Amino acid sequence: MGKIILTGDRPTGRLHLGHYVGSLRRRVELQNSGEFEKIFIMIADAQALTDNFDNPEKVRQNIIEVALDYLSCGLDPEKSTIFIQSQVAELTELAFYYMNLVTVQRLQRNPTVKAEIQMRGFSESAIEGDTTQRQGIPVGFFTYPISQASDITAFRATTVPAGADQEPMIEQTREIVHKFNSTYGKTLVEPEILLPENCICMRLPGTDGKAKMSKSLGNCIYLSDTPKELKQKVMSMYTDPDHLRIEDPGKVEGNCVFIYLDAFCRDEHFEKYLPDYKNLDEMKEHYRRGGLGDVKCKKLLIAVLEEILEPIRARRKEWEQKIEEVYAILEKGTTEARATAAATLNDVREAMRINYFADKELISEQAARYRETSAKQN
Ligand code: TRP
Repeated sequence: MGKIILTGDRPTGRLHLGHYVGSLRRRVELQNSGEFEKIFIMIADAQALTDNFDNPEKVRQNIIEVALDYLSCGLDPEKSTIFIQSQVAELTELAFYYMNLVTVQRLQRNPTVKAEIQMRGFSESAIEGDTTQRQGIPVGFFTYPISQASDITAFRATTVPAGADQEPMIEQTREIVHKFNSTYGKTLVEPEILLPENCICMRLPGTDGKAKMSKSLGNCIYLSDTPKELKQKVMSMYTDPDHLRIEDPGKVEGNCVFIYLDAFCRDEHFEKYLPDYKNLDEMKEHYRRGGLGDVKCKKLLIAVLEEILEPIRARRKEWEQKIEEVYAILEKGTTEARATAAATLNDVREAMRINYFADKELISEQAARYRETSAKQN
């Protein structure tokens, strides 16, 4: 059996550089490697609604943004099936059956759920008047790891390329698969997470030096940012607060400009943009010693990021003029995804013995039994 990929994103905003290094870049490589029999890329609108149920318009408007970002990054609809989660109804049915296999206690222990409950202001006892706190945890949100297990298993995915924050989700999916297979017979495929290759890329900090790029913190560089926006953002980036004058020694640890250079810069870039140094190590050394200013480092970073973002931006411009075609791609992908999910759902129903109408034996056995009893009575 060939390897199958499923992965996706919540459509709550445009995608940014953090998504690019954490997942998009890898997805395109995996797509083009030819190593996978099938690749499913899901726009997880139903999951986005679990914590945006009061703002469906936001989700609705961002589906196209995410689709445009996908296509601009080089996801190719001929090679990858891009689809919209909510339009594959089979996924919700699977989730309903999986709910029997997971305890409330286990969900409560899921680290990602725990962290998100805090981050999103869902709490068990909202303090009155505190508008950042929303009272109670919606069941839909609480159970989204189960829905994610449906997403993955419906496509018989062997491989889920995702960031480290998704590890608890994949772990929970594996547990559900185990439980299902041991209860009903081997039916589901156990998936594995495929983490980004190096640890810098696992989590790109925001431009303000905070742990993560996040829309709500306003510290993102978007794939669709203009050259001017990119320049402004890099120029105001967090560096080393103690590096006041050029002559001062500087720190590269925790310095955003160097973290980004670590993630994106290659030796060739020096030859092209900053031949004073052979490579990043040399440049870091100079920065540490003192005598190297932030502006020079930032200019290099802008050039390096432009190299990545320019072609993405150009492709986006083209796709933006073909919105109908993008929706047609999503619709075609969704039709294909439904067929795959329906086939898995069939197997699941069969394993769970809830395939009544398709089970001719069940009907004929019961019919025969009743005819026999009736014959005996006569
Ligand atoms: N939880 C993912 C995110 O927040 C999106 C997602 C939904 C997903 N279903 C998935 C990712 C299945 C991988 C596999 O971005």
